[in-house]
Amino acid sequence: MDEFGHAPAGIDPTVPNIARMYDYYLGGKDNFPADREAAEKMLAIGRQMGNDGREIARENRGFLGRAVRHLAESGVTQFIDIGAGLPTQENVHQVAQRHAPGARVVYVDNDPVVLVHARALLADNPDTIVLDGDLHDPVAVFDHPQVRAHIDFSRPFAVLLVSVLHFVIEDEEAERIVAQVRERLVPGGALVLSHIFRGDVKEEIVEASKKVYSATRSGGLTGRTLEQIASFFDGLEIVEPGIVPVQAWRPDVPWEVPTDPGDSGILGAVGRKP
Ligand SMILES: C[S@@+](CC[C@H](N)C(=O)[O-])C[C@H]1O[C@@H](n2cnc3c(N)ncnc32)[C@H](O)[C@@H]1O
Repeated sequence: MDEFGHAPAGIDPTVPNIARMYDYYLGGKDNFPADREAAEKMLAIGRQMGNDGREIARENRGFLGRAVRHLAESGVTQFIDIGAGLPTQENVHQVAQRHAPGARVVYVDNDPVVLVHARALLADNPDTIVLDGDLHDPVAVFDHPQVRAHIDFSRPFAVLLVSVLHFVIEDEEAERIVAQVRERLVPGGALVLSHIFRGDVKEEIVEASKKVYSATRSGGLTGRTLEQIASFFDGLEIVEPGIVPVQAWRPDVPWEVPTDPGDSGILGAVGRKP
């Protein structure tokens, strides 16, 4: 968007968009009325379950930041963030490069607005690149010449699939994607994943949220069970505290946050390749 709130060429502001809706949940300004209307519908659906959608989105960002910090502090200095989203506070490169100066980051997204904003933000950051790529084809991401030039695949790297895999509607497709990611990880590398938890959410609420996202490019939204989310980490060692609500993953705050998955929300975890 320019300073007058106009959309860049080729962007349809009348169709709700995943990245811009998420920007709205986070309190950002890079969204249009159609995004805000759809996002408000989701927030209302969340309220029916006693959830604060904005808070969950912020907690998801908090998880992402803490996971990247944890990995950077433990020696991982390369990150491939697929479904990176619009730049916001504490983006992956900022956290990683603060804790591991020179850390290399690849941002991948298939949304033209995200790409424009990310490229503008990162124009003068030589350790960070932005790629137009699709989560459905992680092999093409890993094999892209720009990525091969930026990431040393013989050394540990982390792949982030944070709040993006639930936009893959079919379970088999989500499993295939994550299996292809795991296959490329090298020892010491990591998968950072957060995902909408199916939990005990009533069917009509599930259907209502699918309907809101059906207008976006993903065509819907699929929450998954704890067992399904755990299976994404097959063959990896899940670091403490395990697969937990994002707010309970190594919180900075000194008080105890329940690690029980509860009945809805977003679960997050980090798995390391042994
Ligand atoms: C909810 S945002 C999450 C942003 C960030 N990962 C976070 O958790 O804060 C989801 C992002 O995934 C992107 N996305 C959705 N489907 C995608 C796909 N098939 N390939 C690449 N990116 C995708 C959207 O454009 C959006 O920017």
